[in-house]
Amino acid sequence: MPNIIEIKNVTKKYGEVVAIDNLSLTVEAGEILGILGQNGAGKTTLIEMMEGLRRPDIGTITVAGFPHILNNRDYYKKIGVQLQNGSLQDELKVGEVLQLFALFHNVPVNRALALLERFHLSDKQNTMYQNLSAGQARIVQLVLTFFHEPNIAFLDEPSAGLDPLARRELWDFVRQHKAQGQTVILTTHYVEEAEEMCDRVAILDKGQVVRLGSPRQLIAESVTPHKIAVYHQSGVRFDLNTLPGISRQEEKDAATFLYTDNYLATLKHLTTLLEKRSEEVSGLTVQKTRLEDVYIKLLGKQD
Ligand SMILES: Nc1ncnc2c1ncn2[C@@H]1O[C@H](COP(=O)(O)OP(=O)(O)O)[C@@H](O)[C@H]1O
Ligand SMILES: [Mg+2]
Repeated sequence: MPNIIEIKNVTKKYGEVVAIDNLSLTVEAGEILGILGQNGAGKTTLIEMMEGLRRPDIGTITVAGFPHILNNRDYYKKIGVQLQNGSLQDELKVGEVLQLFALFHNVPVNRALALLERFHLSDKQNTMYQNLSAGQARIVQLVLTFFHEPNIAFLDEPSAGLDPLARRELWDFVRQHKAQGQTVILTTHYVEEAEEMCDRVAILDKGQVVRLGSPRQLIAESVTPHKIAVYHQSGVRFDLNTLPGISRQEEKDAATFLYTDNYLATLKHLTTLLEKRSEEVSGLTVQKTRLEDVYIKLLGKQD
């Protein structure tokens, strides 16, 4: 697939704050790219520069063949934008907001109404935008992002404030757009969401991409494939580092986590050992390691 976005050596500062630090990244047409990172990592700055809303101090960004140009009408027909804190005309009804955007994009408002129905908000057409719940407002913004069928959609924390079912519907919706060949760039704090939904994720830290790849690649190169949790009385300590397969042991108050390359061999020895101290142990789980484990290992022990 050709690259639809090319970011080359981009730096963006706000005064002394370096928000994006000599960052290069390409996005392939048709992929879902997730941008992860802590608060202040630079996610919004990066995505808003791709959208054309902020200008890099240094470096170049090309999106869908457009060099980085602010306020280019042709460009805004090709993209859809859901801002992190997108505020709309509070004094307008939902139906009026949709009309306004339909005029702007020059597409029939029926498309927006159909999407509103898909997300079960048809009955809100006559509701003032300001009277929507935070989650409902987020959905209306999503409708406004997608109804003109952009080639590329930029979503800054699209699932923030959504209830679990609405979040599921959002994922299905984004996947459906990908199936139609559209490219989606999103930021999220829900690492499990990125793992499930994204073809690739970029983990950002202090304005730099510190990991880039498919969730499966990142897991494989960063952590062992399985994690065993031993739940026990608070304060109890087990020394399990010497069991076969273990590469790392982590202690929580009432749990011990073991990262292992060979969970069957580890379990065999572990159960024998735990049987001797069964009154101190309350449970045991084996899990495949997740992208969240990569994220926490990478970013969890800073400062
Ligand atoms: N308009 C702005 N003026 C000054 N500093 C800003 C502005 N926008 C962002 N920053 C700073 O840039 C850094 C990156 O912010 P941001 O891109 O919003 O990160 P994220 O979206 O990952 O939380 C932060 O330190 C933030 O305080
Ligand atoms: Mg942000």
